[in-house]
Amino acid sequence: MFGHAMMKLRVAVIGGGAAGLCALRHLSACGERFDPVGFEQLDGVGGTWRYTDHIGTMENGIPVQSSMYRNLKTNLPKEVMAFPGFPFPQNLPSFVKHEDVLQYLTDYYQHYDLHKYLKLNTRVDLVEPVKAGTRTEWSVTYSSENQSQTGQFDAVIVCNGHYAVPLVPHLEGEKSFQGEITHSHDYRVPDVYKDKVVVCLGAAASGQDVSLDIATVANKVIISHNKPSLKTVLPSNVCQQTGIDRLTEKTAVFTNGKEEPVDVIMLCTGYRYSFPFLSPNCAVNIEDERVTPLYKHIIHTRYPTLSFIGICKTICPFPQFENQVRFVLSMLDGSMPLPNQTEMERDTEKDFQARLAEGLPTRHAHSMGPRQWAYNDMLAHMGGFEVIPPAVQNLYDEVHRVRVTNLPGYKRKQYRLTGEDSFQENECIGS
Ligand SMILES: Cc1cc2nc3c(=O)[nH]c(=O)nc-3n(C[C@H](O)[C@H](O)[C@H](O)COP(=O)(O)OP(=O)(O)OC[C@H]3O[C@@H](n4cnc5c(N)ncnc54)[C@H](O)[C@@H]3O)c2cc1C
Ligand SMILES: NC(=O)c1ccc[n+]([C@@H]2O[C@H](COP(=O)([O-])OP(=O)(O)OC[C@H]3O[C@@H](n4cnc5c(N)ncnc54)[C@H](OP(=O)(O)O)[C@@H]3O)[C@@H](O)[C@H]2O)c1
Ligand SMILES: *[C@@H]1O[C@H](CO)[C@@H](O)[C@H](O)[C@H]1NC(C)=O
Ligand SMILES: *[C@@H]1O[C@H](CO)[C@@H](O)[C@H](O)[C@H]1NC(C)=O
Repeated sequence: MFGHAMMKLRVAVIGGGAAGLCALRHLSACGERFDPVGFEQLDGVGGTWRYTDHIGTMENGIPVQSSMYRNLKTNLPKEVMAFPGFPFPQNLPSFVKHEDVLQYLTDYYQHYDLHKYLKLNTRVDLVEPVKAGTRTEWSVTYSSENQSQTGQFDAVIVCNGHYAVPLVPHLEGEKSFQGEITHSHDYRVPDVYKDKVVVCLGAAASGQDVSLDIATVANKVIISHNKPSLKTVLPSNVCQQTGIDRLTEKTAVFTNGKEEPVDVIMLCTGYRYSFPFLSPNCAVNIEDERVTPLYKHIIHTRYPTLSFIGICKTICPFPQFENQVRFVLSMLDGSMPLPNQTEMERDTEKDFQARLAEGLPTRHAHSMGPRQWAYNDMLAHMGGFEVIPPAVQNLYDEVHRVRVTNLPGYKRKQYRLTGEDSFQENECIGS
């Protein structure tokens, strides 16, 4: 549909994390249609799962991509986290360590021979649309060491992740605060917080998990957030407060007026979308963490051969990436016709307005949560491929149910998928 008849489509894939590997796997499986080239700036695959002790920049000057900390275990059981049809090793517990996930992605890379298509140590610097008759092609400039090169592609799939650029809120009084202010992106080990009083600001996954890790050594941890109070059991040295109103030299003042002496502010306030390699001509906008104009959170409405995998938040990532990739490939190979630009823009706006009508702020434009399952199924129906087995949703929902009341204990549970829509809980392993 988008290429010359009978010619293979040249497809650039930006990023060698879970999303980029998944794109390369499915593109290379249709070798008669697609000619994929992947680009990864780091010296190995796995993206955010490549733990490093470094913070700031790596030896080669590239900003640290990983937001992993040493004690991180997954917050989803491996049974639902896996790409459908490519399970984690059986001997691992349900909630695995970050190094097990990196090994899993490395196994995936090797199993599908993806090294044939991926250029490591190669950063994409610029993506630019170019007119080729009535079609749009893509000029991609990339560099390794000092060498810069440009290639022409029929399509570009952006898989660069969005947990590498911290979102840092301004806090009144931050200049006069004498303690440390840091972000969970730079959090590695709890030891440095021994006997300290630490405020973790934000109570999403990072706020909930980092606070418990720090609490193993800290004097006191305060989870400060603007959500309804968490209804979970917590260790005796962890408590909750409302959001931060301002800082003084030695204290935090919360929005409920309470004031506490604190040594450290750990910002667990999330991350920003960033596509520094897209030229302004790509016409991609980010406004208050909403990326536009993306049909179904994936396809650029004006340039459908420019697509994005992994934009959504609060999801079961790998299975959704796979559906998004297959959706894009159905479009590129012509088997799934797209609505026209006006229709796609209408659909995108409708999705956004429905969120606003539910009271969500603009920054939650790509948040999925309970919406993710109908969304995943919709992609499968439109793209003409099989849906994710319902067991994945059932187990995901069960884990969520356990987590909200037992944050310190939920990762000790063991599960097993027993059928298309069933799972079983096995005996807990020791703490
Ligand atoms: C702390 C933390 C914990 C998490 N825990 C879980 C969990 O328990 N379970 C789960 O399923 N998910 C978890 N996630 C979500 C995680 O983000 C996804 O699982 C998944 O790894 C995202 O993959 P990705 O490919 O979209 O992005 P990434 O893993 O970020 O990969 C993007 C890749 O693109 C490369 N890149 C970026 N720009 C360029 C460029 N210009 N040129 C070349 N290469 C480039 C980067 O170097 C990187 O390797 C967690 C995330 C974080 C931050
Ligand atoms: N395996 C694990 O255990 C684990 C651990 C950590 C992270 N993760 C993963 O890492 C990814 C990122 O998670 P994340 O928690 O870092 O980011 P996130 O999901 O974007 O959450 C950021 C939170 O900070 C809040 N926030 C932002 N600014 C604030 C402010 N000024 N005051 C108070 N609260 C503020 C946000 O509130 P609003 O909702 O109002 O915007 C949001 O709840 C997710 O995929 C997550 O699952 C996994
Ligand atoms: C990169 O540039 C530096 C100096 O600019 C030079 O010394 C080095 O040999 C170059 N490396 C490569 C691989 O071209
Ligand atoms: C786009 O598609 C819609 C619905 O099929 C149709 O009504 C409309 O006329 C089309 N617009 C253009 C510009 O083709």
